[in-house]
Amino acid sequence: MSERPYIVGNWKMHGSRAMLSEARAIDRAAERLMKVEVAIAPPFTLIHATRKEAALIGVGAQDCHAAEGGAHTGDISAAMLKDSGAGFVIVGHSERRADHGETDADVKAKAEAALAVGLSVIVCVGETEAERDAGKAAEVVSKQLEGSLPETEQAAEKVTVAYEPVWAIGTGRTPTLEDIGAMHQAIRLRLRGIYGEAADGVRILYGGSVKADNAAEILSIPEVGGALVGGASLTAESFVGIMTAAAERGEG
Ligand code: 13P
Repeated sequence: MSERPYIVGNWKMHGSRAMLSEARAIDRAAERLMKVEVAIAPPFTLIHATRKEAALIGVGAQDCHAAEGGAHTGDISAAMLKDSGAGFVIVGHSERRADHGETDADVKAKAEAALAVGLSVIVCVGETEAERDAGKAAEVVSKQLEGSLPETEQAAEKVTVAYEPVWAIGTGRTPTLEDIGAMHQAIRLRLRGIYGEAADGVRILYGGSVKADNAAEILSIPEVGGALVGGASLTAESFVGIMTAAAERGEG
C-alpha cells in the first residue's frame, strides 16, 4: 500500500469557474507537500478546467453512470469523465444513495464501469445515526462493502474505500478515535474476505467533518489511510491545513 496519506476534497454541488483559483492554490501547496497524495472532485462542469489548471493533484468526479452510453438524459458515463481529464470517480456517496436511491448493486455497477475505462474509484460506505444507535454500524458497513465493491480482476489495485458515517457529514460531529479505528479494522477484514491478500493494498479513508483542527488526530489512527473532505475542501486555506496535517503524519 502507498504509505502516503491520500487527502481528497469532494466539492459536492459547489463551485464555479471562479473557484479554479482555489484549485490552483491547492495544487501549489501540493508541490511542497509531496508526502501527501492530494486530489479534488469538483462538479462535472469544472473537471476539464481543473485538470488544465492543476498540474500535480488528482482530479476526479463525484459520480458516473453504469452504462457505456446511450439514452440517459443528463447522465455522464465513465468514459466521458476520462475524456474530460478525470483520473478517478467517487461512487456510492451517501448523498447519492439518499437523494437518488442508489443501491449497493447500482454502486457496484458504476464502480465496475469506471474500472473498465481505467479510472480509479473511491467507494463510499457508512451507517446512519439510527443504525449506529441500534448497534448495527459494523453490520451495515460490511453489507455495503459486500454489495458495492467491484469484483473485476485487479479491482483491489484501483479501489479506495471511504468510511463516512452519515451522521458525521456536515455536522461537525465525528466518531471517537477508537470508533474510527475499530470500523477501519472491520473494513480491512471484510476487504480481505473479498480481495484476499490484495486487500492490504487498499486505502481506507475517513470522511465526515474532517477539518484542519481535527485532521492530525484522525490521521494518526494507524488504520486511517487518508481523508475524504467536504466543506473544508472548498477553500485552499482550510484544505491546505488538512494537507499539512497529513504531511506531518507522513513524516512521523
Ligand atoms: P464534510 O467534510 O462536509 O462533513 O463532508 C464529508 C463528505 O461527505 C465528503 O464526501
